[in-house]
Amino acid sequence: MAEDPLSHPALDKAAGEEFLREAFQIILEEAVRKGTDVTEKVCDWRKPQDLQEILDLELRSSGEPQQRVLEHCRDVIRYSVKTCHPRFFNQLFSGLDPHALVGRMITETLNTSQYTYEIAPVFVLMEEVVLKKLRELIGWGSGDGIFCPGGSLSNIYAMNVARYQRFPDSKQTGIWALPRLAVFTSQECHYSVQKGAAFLGIGTDNIYLVGVDERGKMIPADLEKQINKAKSEGACPFFVNATCGTTVLGAFDPLADVADVCERHGAWFHVDAAWGGSALLSRRHRHLLRGIERADSVAWNPHKMLMTGLQCSAFLLRDSSGLLQRCHGANATYLFQTDKFYDVAYDTGDKTIQCGRKVDCLKLWLMWKANGTEGLEKRVDRAFEFTRYLAEEIKKREGFQLVIEPEFINLCFWFVPHSLRGKEGCADYWERLGKVAPAIKERMMKKGSMMVGYQPLGSKVNFFRQVVTNPVVTKQDLDFFLDEIERLGTDL
Ligand SMILES: Cc1ncc(COP(=O)(O)O)c(C=O)c1O
Repeated sequence: MAEDPLSHPALDKAAGEEFLREAFQIILEEAVRKGTDVTEKVCDWRKPQDLQEILDLELRSSGEPQQRVLEHCRDVIRYSVKTCHPRFFNQLFSGLDPHALVGRMITETLNTSQYTYEIAPVFVLMEEVVLKKLRELIGWGSGDGIFCPGGSLSNIYAMNVARYQRFPDSKQTGIWALPRLAVFTSQECHYSVQKGAAFLGIGTDNIYLVGVDERGKMIPADLEKQINKAKSEGACPFFVNATCGTTVLGAFDPLADVADVCERHGAWFHVDAAWGGSALLSRRHRHLLRGIERADSVAWNPHKMLMTGLQCSAFLLRDSSGLLQRCHGANATYLFQTDKFYDVAYDTGDKTIQCGRKVDCLKLWLMWKANGTEGLEKRVDRAFEFTRYLAEEIKKREGFQLVIEPEFINLCFWFVPHSLRGKEGCADYWERLGKVAPAIKERMMKKGSMMVGYQPLGSKVNFFRQVVTNPVVTKQDLDFFLDEIERLGTDL
């Protein structure tokens, strides 16, 4: 009689373990060791058509042998950008913390969802400890919060909770029953504010952009003016977003003054500290966020400056009355049964709009355990020191020009090639200068020597934005960075 296939496992556990062992070796060798090796490329750049051919992406009806699958693993790593490389300065995240990485691996291996104590007992307790630690750094003795899939979502949560707090009925009645709601944010804010207004049915036309000073900081007097304007137009000013560490310039809005304006007008005060929040860990630099304790909510991304790995974004609330739960709760009886055998207050998942939610706390917790608050503080301070070092080097070098003196760790500068030096008076100077950064970027990508971002901003033509968050970066890497820009751009 033929054996019943259902009475045996359909996965070969021994072969799976062997595959894992070999795959881990490849990860260690190709992604970790080579990925952080300064003599290796940051990226092996290929055109999409060429890469498509190299990668053999097609999915077929029959499986491939293990060795071939391992080759795919190697190729995936080889042609991906090494964001942990000491010369990757392209994003607001970079680097590789081994403890955080192990946290990510454990998270992936255990493959659970953060919603209930039943399915994630360790992580429910851990998330609360980590969020509490972050709240304490803000200056709150109590409060609430949740890890969200990214800072954009944290900002959108803030907007939703603010609306619910002001108009609790809107959860049932929807936007029909509401007045025209108005959102206030500076023109330097992250684009997620715009996305949030669109997503939540508030409408991007109802965002009032507040003016900024020459350093990119919100002008509180203009905030007040915009609020009064909105009121005179019949709108209801319900939400103010201030930014700590704007995406491009790294500006910190004056929180205490913004808080005063919010108080006067009864508006929810949200602080988008997705980028700059980690400065709270530094006794030397936390003054940049003075007044953050007066916020109603804060978005803070440890995956950016603290290197926990994507994604790790905390949405934190000063409220401890259960507002988050009331705002988002749906009380699904198949998940959040009220007659469980343990205290169901530990089933925190109904505070979010998600059902399944990835565990984002372990990587931060493990990294924090390994480094201590002092170790993290040193990293933050080191990032500031490097920015200062680079800013001073830029001032010494011919052809380099700061866009503004850095306050945070965003170093914004132009490189002016020989052909443009001394030609500031020419009619086409700025137009030509705006073409320099993209041309240098193309060359560095094709060479694979480093990566740094560029963008225009308002009337300012394309400039580089350099950011160092990776503690393996040394002064030598930064000297190389400036030399390389000069090498790549000198003939332009
Ligand atoms: C100031 C600011 N807020 C929010 C975000 C969005 O964060 P995320 O990419 O995690 O959605 C960013 C991203 O760069 C940012 O710079």
